[in-house]
Amino acid sequence: MAQLLGIRIKNFKSLADVTLGQIGSETGDPLPSMCCFIGPNGCGKSSLLDAFGFLSDCLKEGVEAACDKPQRGGFQKLRTQGSSSPITFLLSYKVLGSTEPIVYIFEVDEINGIPIVLSEKLVILTKQDHKGVILALEQGKGIVLIGKKPHDVSLEDKGRLGITTLGQLSEHPHIVKLRTYVQNWYLSYFIPDAARKLPPTGAQKHLDRTGENLGNVVQYIQRNHKERFERILEQIRKRIPGIQKIETQQSPDGRLLLKFNEDGYKDPFYQQSMSDGTLKMFAYLLLLEDPDPPAFIGIEEPENGLYHKLLEELAGEFRTHAESSKTQILITTHSPYFVNALTPEQVWLMEKDENGHTQVKRTADMPVIKEIIEGGIPLKSLWYSNHFHEPRVRDAGLPARLLLKFRIHAGDEGNLRIEPENISSL
Ligand SMILES: Nc1ncnc2c1ncn2[C@@H]1O[C@H](COP(=O)(O)OP(=O)(O)OP(=O)(O)O)[C@@H](O)[C@H]1O
Ligand SMILES: [Mg+2]
Repeated sequence: MAQLLGIRIKNFKSLADVTLGQIGSETGDPLPSMCCFIGPNGCGKSSLLDAFGFLSDCLKEGVEAACDKPQRGGFQKLRTQGSSSPITFLLSYKVLGSTEPIVYIFEVDEINGIPIVLSEKLVILTKQDHKGVILALEQGKGIVLIGKKPHDVSLEDKGRLGITTLGQLSEHPHIVKLRTYVQNWYLSYFIPDAARKLPPTGAQKHLDRTGENLGNVVQYIQRNHKERFERILEQIRKRIPGIQKIETQQSPDGRLLLKFNEDGYKDPFYQQSMSDGTLKMFAYLLLLEDPDPPAFIGIEEPENGLYHKLLEELAGEFRTHAESSKTQILITTHSPYFVNALTPEQVWLMEKDENGHTQVKRTADMPVIKEIIEGGIPLKSLWYSNHFHEPRVRDAGLPARLLLKFRIHAGDEGNLRIEPENISSL
């Protein structure tokens, strides 16, 4: 297990150069256990989540297969338009139980129309700020540390990451840990229709990306972790009115049925008849009760299909789970209710600049927002309001404290809108 301290992404879609958290031993706060990204349509939220997906696919399947996934459409569509530099990722992380940050950087470029790993580096930063190079490759050739000695290495396939190949070998413990860590990331793109399919029976430990194996995971938890399953049922009963019981059942042709008993009906309903939101809430609860949770969970817009009053509670649960376990959770959302359960240290605002490149700012680093939150106004009230962009405050040339006279009224989305009263008269 490891903790992500920071990430830098270059030339990936609109993320021309984005840094989050702490990179290496530089100053800046490490990413917290719960990170939430908000911002207008097209500002780069899905691209950020896909950057994690891309990295993980590069590790599992090689860079060409990762670029050519249907949702990505090839290297040229992925590289920031107008740039001719490689797509670059820098991960800064800490293995649990160790204090030394480790930095992993790799660059992907296209040579003769084929995406390859241009370079790759794994460096451990010791307390004395000494940089211990564990792996350094240029187009598959370079050195890897075994014990304390660097050894020459030459990889056959320039489309595969060195950490994929070398991470299979126990003589490279740092590489094995990185490979295991990234391989274990869980990115959720829950699709209710996928969860409605009838998978073959067979218990499975972890939910897959789309939720297609929902029934298999239920089978596993029900069988091996009865008390966890009872907790899930209790939670779902509280949230989805009328649900009594959920069980698995095998169909005559060996497929797995999820049986939902509801108040007022004698016969059960099966997954095909259940609502999108019920299936989604059930999937998230299963994820939160995973007895062996992944080190990193990424979720795109969990609010879709869920009743808005459940969202703040769900966000609170994600947050508690992240803060009390070794799992880091990254979420993108359009929901002010979701954001309300979080602190400004856990929320980032994404926007595009005049070049169409994504800029990201932690809300805790926006002085006005920090002061307002400290004054007791909930975070949800702020983020839909167009009046709260730090540059505007700067443009007006006003010190933040002068803006602390506000008029509060109901906004279009049912959230509060807050407008400075004194800005025009000054
Ligand atoms: N290769 C590229 N170079 C630069 N920008 C790109 C590239 N590919 C896509 N984009 C930009 O990224 C945008 C899509 O970003 P993304 O899907 O991450 O937005 P989002 O914040 O998730 O939006 P929504 O809230 O609508 O889901 C596109 O509209 C386009 O402007
Ligand atoms: Mg999106």
